[in-house]
Amino acid sequence: MTEPPLLIVVLAAGKGTRMKSALPKVLHPIAGMPMLGHVLALAGSVGASGVAVVIGPDMDNVRAEALKRHPGAEIYTQHNQIGTADAVLAARDAIAAHAGDVIVLYADTPLIETATIERLRSALSAGAGVVVLGFQAADPAGYGRLITAADGSLATIREDKDASPDERAVRLCNSGVLAFRVPDLASLLGRIGNANAKGEYYLTDAVEIARADGHRAMVVLCPEDEVLGVNARDQLATAEGIFQARRRRAAMQDGATLIAPETVWFSSDTRLGRDVVIEPNVFFGPGVVVEDDVRINANCHIEGATVRRGARVGPFARLRPGADLGPDVHIGNFVEVKNVTMGAGAKANHLAYLGDGEVGAKANIGAGTIFCNYDGFNKHRTEIGDGAFIGSNSSLVAPLKIGPGAYVGSGSVITKNVAADALALERSPQEEREGWAAKFRTMMARRKAKP
Ligand code: UD1
Ligand code: CA
Repeated sequence: MTEPPLLIVVLAAGKGTRMKSALPKVLHPIAGMPMLGHVLALAGSVGASGVAVVIGPDMDNVRAEALKRHPGAEIYTQHNQIGTADAVLAARDAIAAHAGDVIVLYADTPLIETATIERLRSALSAGAGVVVLGFQAADPAGYGRLITAADGSLATIREDKDASPDERAVRLCNSGVLAFRVPDLASLLGRIGNANAKGEYYLTDAVEIARADGHRAMVVLCPEDEVLGVNARDQLATAEGIFQARRRRAAMQDGATLIAPETVWFSSDTRLGRDVVIEPNVFFGPGVVVEDDVRINANCHIEGATVRRGARVGPFARLRPGADLGPDVHIGNFVEVKNVTMGAGAKANHLAYLGDGEVGAKANIGAGTIFCNYDGFNKHRTEIGDGAFIGSNSSLVAPLKIGPGAYVGSGSVITKNVAADALALERSPQEEREGWAAKFRTMMARRKAKP
């Protein structure tokens, strides 16, 4: 059976005062991606044919983020925050132009799973006009309560402030996610009034109005974790924890070994191959791809990097954006790599900074090597050929090219290009004074012994 087209309306107009932040609440990240991005990704994964995002006034940064994450999104502004029904109606043009199902999501509720939205759609297909995503709340205070009818359908949603003591005892709560299959939803929502404790236009009143119109209202249940709403920073941290736990489980299900899963932090877009081993305390920022058979040793910080098949990284390595490690590359302790492509089998095993350049296959970068890539104004590139050997404690002053197979003597400051297979040495000659140390010791000991 083909389902009707789906419009998703994302409410993001709230200021989020309890975050105490200059940044609008929905731009705060979970796993490196703004909460709004998570919700728009959900809209994408359920195959919404239209997405409308309702923002508040002066939220150009929210608008920009929405368009970045979902270029086809239509953005509407709700000028005064007078209730969730009014917020949805800010997108009335999108709703009126759309023939099909409408699902309302909150941008501050970022953990809902695709399968849950599919269950809401199935309930619509089974004949419901309105479906509410509900959950059993550990503490229902503050939530709208779902009041069911004798036939198991949903009778009404009672907001906390308007509930009687009996209704308040109900633990079945509204997550805020509502799905509609009613013709002309905009005119139904237009009939919602504000005669309630808060004087707001409650979207939840749509349930009773739809029932009066002859529609059936239903509840679909999900775990409380999934519908956690973020109002303050402690909930942001809780949501992060739930997301990370899920992501770690998924990584292991997909064939990665996490020795201490609870110490590994992923971004929402981290990609891991099979038989990847990740030791404790590894952090993945956005934009990381790790291919099969890679080992990431303990205590690494990795972002914007590609780590190809069989490579080894760490312990204590830092890979920054543009690091592209070829197959079987070894990056060891206290090595930082930024914007450098490394060919197959290249090694930098200890204490180095490789920034802006290219390292050929099988090249060996000694301990303490620095790519001096910045002159205070511009960044310059260092290119090292295949099989080159850079002796320890060398400063490579870019722009610089070191030919394939060349040697750089330890401790050199290299400022000029080095030809293939040559030796470049920049070092003052060593002097040696025979017996000097022994004489010195005797002299000093005598001096110290005198009163
Ligand atoms: C709402 C529900 C409640 C549910 C709870 C779940 C209503 C009337 N109540 O209550 O049943 O249990 O969510 O968290 O819907 N928003 C706007 N414009 C507005 C008002 C709100 O965009 O004018 C947005 C907010 O930014 C937020 C969401 O809608 O993302 C919910 O609004 P909020 O005021 O937090 O609703 P609750 O009182 O928590
Ligand atoms: Ca809320």
